[in-house]
Amino acid sequence: MKEQLEAIRKNALDAIQAAKDNAGLDALRVKYLGRKGELTGVLKKMGGLSADMRPVMGQMANEVRSALEQAVEKQAEILAEKAMEARLALETVDITMPGKKSAIGHRHPMYTALDEFKEIFINMGFEVMDGPEIEESAYNFDKLNTPDDHPAREWSDTFYLNQDSKILLRTQTSPMQIRAMETYGVPIRMISPGRVYRKDEVDATHSPMFHQIEGLVVDKGVTMADLKGTLNAVIREIYGADTKTRFRPHHFPFTEPSCEVDVQCARCGGKGCPTCKGEGWMEVLGAGMVHPKVLAGCGVDPDVYSGFAFGFGLERMAMARFKINDMRLIFENDVRFLEQF
Ligand code: PHE
Repeated sequence: MKEQLEAIRKNALDAIQAAKDNAGLDALRVKYLGRKGELTGVLKKMGGLSADMRPVMGQMANEVRSALEQAVEKQAEILAEKAMEARLALETVDITMPGKKSAIGHRHPMYTALDEFKEIFINMGFEVMDGPEIEESAYNFDKLNTPDDHPAREWSDTFYLNQDSKILLRTQTSPMQIRAMETYGVPIRMISPGRVYRKDEVDATHSPMFHQIEGLVVDKGVTMADLKGTLNAVIREIYGADTKTRFRPHHFPFTEPSCEVDVQCARCGGKGCPTCKGEGWMEVLGAGMVHPKVLAGCGVDPDVYSGFAFGFGLERMAMARFKINDMRLIFENDVRFLEQF
């Protein structure tokens, strides 16, 4: 029996110290110390021993039991420690490493230019209005006194949304002149920025979608002098106090007389350079006195009221303001580009 107990102690200790995980350790505990375990099996045979051997063997059996119990406990601790070490290794955090910045984008320079523009007009008592990009041709053309054979009405120039040419993507923000007068009447002083659409190929100065800012002033006694004074004041706010302007006669169906307004090239002082394509001047807007037919069509008496309207190109303005030479950069939305402004 003594040899048996020695053998159990040795085998069991070896096995316990080699246990690789809790489940294996538990199985060993059952195998050696359990109610049907090997040690219990030996103890059951104690009855057959002589009276003087019994306490000796009993003591030895108890020693083996507590040795094994201790070994199991110790191995459990070792396993727990190893598990902790493995976890720590896995979850190592290098607190000296620089953190990850979350990218938050950047305000678009065109909207910075638009905000500055709005501010100038709001300070002059204008209201800012919003209008539909999907528009009726009645508003985009008819009510703006546009003749039936005007080239802008062609399907090759304009995006129509139905077969009878009644619904389209607006080609200009001018329909907002009509909507503003129909909705709010006169006197009125408003600007209306927004997207417009034309069937143009993309290049450095064209895009099938771009932005305009419409403006309309109607009141009693408004003259061409008001048009010039207002637009000169705005242009000097945007392009600098000593900017030279030039008002050229032009034609728009909905204004009479009409003009285009140029700004003298700041880079060459009017001599001609690549920025102004050798012209010395850069066109910045179209404008004119609101046509009497347009006023009458909106229920405004042209004998009592008069007004002026204008349309700025927003991209062109932002490009001049931030010295951007290609319109495609404005629409590509590459944050590395946008972040420079
Ligand atoms: N709508 C015209 C254009 O797109 C610009 C304009 C607006 C001209 C208002 C006169 C008055 O070219």
